[in-house]
Amino acid sequence: MTQFDWRPHFTDVLQYLESENRNAWHEQLTSQLIHRFEQQPHGDVARWQAALEQLPDVPQARVDLNRSAITVASPAALSASGLEALESGLRGLMPWRKGPFTFFDTRIDTEWRSDWKWDRVAPHLSDLSGRTILDVGCGSGYHCWRMAGAGAKRVIGIDPGLLFMFQFLAVKGYVMHAPVDLLPVRMEDLPENLELFDTTFSMGVLYHRRSPLDHLLELKGTLRRGGELVLETLVVDGPEGYSLMPEDRYGQMRNVWFLPSCPTLLRWLDRAGFTDARVVDVSVTTTEEQRQTDWMRFNSLSDFLDPHDPTKTIEGYPGPKRATIIARKP
Ligand SMILES: C[S@@+](CC[C@H](N)C(=O)[O-])C[C@H]1O[C@@H](n2cnc3c(N)ncnc32)[C@H](O)[C@@H]1O
Repeated sequence: MTQFDWRPHFTDVLQYLESENRNAWHEQLTSQLIHRFEQQPHGDVARWQAALEQLPDVPQARVDLNRSAITVASPAALSASGLEALESGLRGLMPWRKGPFTFFDTRIDTEWRSDWKWDRVAPHLSDLSGRTILDVGCGSGYHCWRMAGAGAKRVIGIDPGLLFMFQFLAVKGYVMHAPVDLLPVRMEDLPENLELFDTTFSMGVLYHRRSPLDHLLELKGTLRRGGELVLETLVVDGPEGYSLMPEDRYGQMRNVWFLPSCPTLLRWLDRAGFTDARVVDVSVTTTEEQRQTDWMRFNSLSDFLDPHDPTKTIEGYPGPKRATIIARKP
């Protein structure tokens, strides 16, 4: 198996950075990609690359970004061998966590109904048409595609999970021209104070950050003046000032640090220098929204809740509840 040829997948975004005179970011990203794919390649990259290459070429394919499932369709039915290759390629990219997607007639029922989150968030956003957007911790890029469907001029998603990047490329391979890219890097790997984006999303990331205030400041640095932050994170009930720090795991998840109350989160945003912060949605995560499927066969939310009291996690903490907050950089 040859080394993954990453360059063609990043030509567009690197050219975009050049066109915006973001030369420092261009240089930094190029060396990060060389590091990830050439110097220290992940042990599964060859397998994921092989799965990606199995997906059939369908020159007439079209992608619909405005449905609950991101849908790749073709006017003509795929041949039996095409369908077999498709199934095998998509299975090779399991587990599929964020979606759903439909590739021709194959529906990928992902662990998460990410479309439900989008439906909760989208009505509260400033019109995305013409906006330049950053989606921090974008997973498979499901929401990035929905942002492009809503008219965004350019979307950059970042997520360190390399399998997510291959799932993203599975869709992108069927899209003719879409100013949507997924960079396999962490928030901390971006240059500070980019001041480039009209909207920055951070959904499902804040509780993974040991220093949530620093995360908010990093997010603020990505926005131009007047830009919009869309923050979605786990919260708990409680007064201003209260936040929960789990002793170890939360709902079996490692790496969970702070679960603030909504008033605490608003205070953090205020202290970080955002204005007009408002809670637009609070929803309990259900076992209908996050569950095991045929495309994600590991344990899921129902296994992480107390079997005798499903309002609590298996560790005895309040069950997952998420808030979405929209704020502005002055
Ligand atoms: C709970 S998922 C949320 C995915 C998607 N944003 C959503 O809301 O459905 C959190 C994602 O954040 C990513 N992540 C964790 N730490 C990160 C960091 N420091 N920078 C960027 N992404 C991070 C993880 O790889 C994971 O895909």
